[in-house]
Amino acid sequence: MNKKQLTSENGRPIADNQNIQTAGVRGPAMLQDPWFMEKLAHFDREVIPERRMHAKGSGAFGTFTVTNDISQYTRASIFSKIGKKNNCFVRFSTVAGERGAADAERDIRGFAMKFYTDEGNWDLVGNNTPVFFLRDPLKFPDLNHAIKRDPYTNMRSANNNWDFWTLLPEALHQVTITMSPRGIPFSYRHMHGFGSHTYSFYDKDNKRTWVKFHLVTLQGIKNLTDAEAEAIISKDRESHQRDLHEAIEQGNFPRWKMQIQLMSEEEAKTYKINPFDLTKVWYHRDFPLHDVGILELNRNPENYFADVEQAAFNPMNVVEGIGFSPDKMLQGRLFSYGDAQRYRLGVNHNEIPVNKPRCPFHAYHRDGQMRTDGNYGATKGYEPNSYGEWKDNPSKKEPPLKTNGPVYNYDEREYDNDYFTQPGKLWRSMSKEDQKTTCENTARAMGDSELFIKQRHVRNCSYADPDYGKGVAEALGIDYDEALKAEDPAHPSWDPRFSK
Ligand code: HEM
Repeated sequence: MNKKQLTSENGRPIADNQNIQTAGVRGPAMLQDPWFMEKLAHFDREVIPERRMHAKGSGAFGTFTVTNDISQYTRASIFSKIGKKNNCFVRFSTVAGERGAADAERDIRGFAMKFYTDEGNWDLVGNNTPVFFLRDPLKFPDLNHAIKRDPYTNMRSANNNWDFWTLLPEALHQVTITMSPRGIPFSYRHMHGFGSHTYSFYDKDNKRTWVKFHLVTLQGIKNLTDAEAEAIISKDRESHQRDLHEAIEQGNFPRWKMQIQLMSEEEAKTYKINPFDLTKVWYHRDFPLHDVGILELNRNPENYFADVEQAAFNPMNVVEGIGFSPDKMLQGRLFSYGDAQRYRLGVNHNEIPVNKPRCPFHAYHRDGQMRTDGNYGATKGYEPNSYGEWKDNPSKKEPPLKTNGPVYNYDEREYDNDYFTQPGKLWRSMSKEDQKTTCENTARAMGDSELFIKQRHVRNCSYADPDYGKGVAEALGIDYDEALKAEDPAHPSWDPRFSK
């Protein structure tokens, strides 16, 4: 038999892959042409739902190697000794665009890592910025509705986008980063990555330490201006995909240094900012960076759909020695990812090779659509059982976490209204040239937004630093003093002029 013989899915040789079966040369077509039916039916189902966010992305396999001993803080096996090497898979993405969007857009970049450790998969699903627009996950669907297409025009709307952003004063930190020169990285290789949230480590004695993860690019930071990005997009919508793929093909493997910031539970109680607020950073001078290891990407996926489109990263996937924190945004994400993936890929998405743990695992979950792994065969499907099969292990419990108050829908603005200190510091840390570029990028991005929205943004920036407000007003071509006094139809409660 010809080894390269074309067959149908049931293995039957296909006699004709060029012409459908018809009654007579001119048709009509026959319903009894099984190859034609199979081919079309499969084709009709080839598209799966795209990720709600981060739909456009690129991925690669690689390794993570420990360079420094942090085992006094965590008993996670991935960090157990210097020199230990773990396989990993990383997917980078833009956030707002759909699956066919151009890469070189002004946007946050996703930086999702899956470490196949010998004690389970650890997913660190981060971005290329240390903070985020929100500190309450209830607002996440609104954020996405505001930045994605308008339901009436079916176009992206600067007005919706900036109306929403400017009504969330805590977003200014992230907005400033996105409008800064770092808002369009040259490629995925030339940007940092951040776990962004506060996570926890716990050691062999069950002592907890709060931790933030940083991935520092060893390729150096390199960005695109709006004009450079426009020129690239007009010729190449896949510039980031191309850059990553070609670098790896050429053996020019991109690398990042993993660093961590650590904060004790005692320090967290008295730190001047809420250490679990995703809109704020921990200052490096208060909590310096410690080196941990090197992430290297060195293998392109053989098949994009199999490994990149079907990859399922989930902040819920932690391993012993690494845990969550009270960060409300992180808590919200713990629900959303698995839920989205059960819809996007199905209930057995963890059986897909790119997502499957590389260590022995047994969850007692059975059945469900697309169960292709033998379904645990004849083994017992319940626990406890009298046959010594797969038991839970209380020694793996995390340290207890003290909570600090009655259950309620707290308006955090009543407890912490410092939205502007950190964006102000960020603004003052920029060179004059970068400040000017940030203002110009802002003006271009605000486009045809209504005047009152532009004025509101100028006010927000001025609360961070009057020079920032003035710079944005000038770039927008509007009067700064008028902006400070302008009426605001939303009467935002955090604006001192409208606060009760
Ligand atoms: C993707 C929800 C905040 C980083 C996604 C997806 C959902 C989601 C539903 C698609 C998942 C999939 O289909 O596989 C949320 C919610 C958030 C939130 C509800 C806040 C409450 C964040 C934050 C970060 C982040 C703060 C970074 C620090 C990512 C990345 C991806 C993603 C990198 C793409 C993962 C991949 O490459 O497959 N998010 N997200 N998200 N999110 Fe979030």
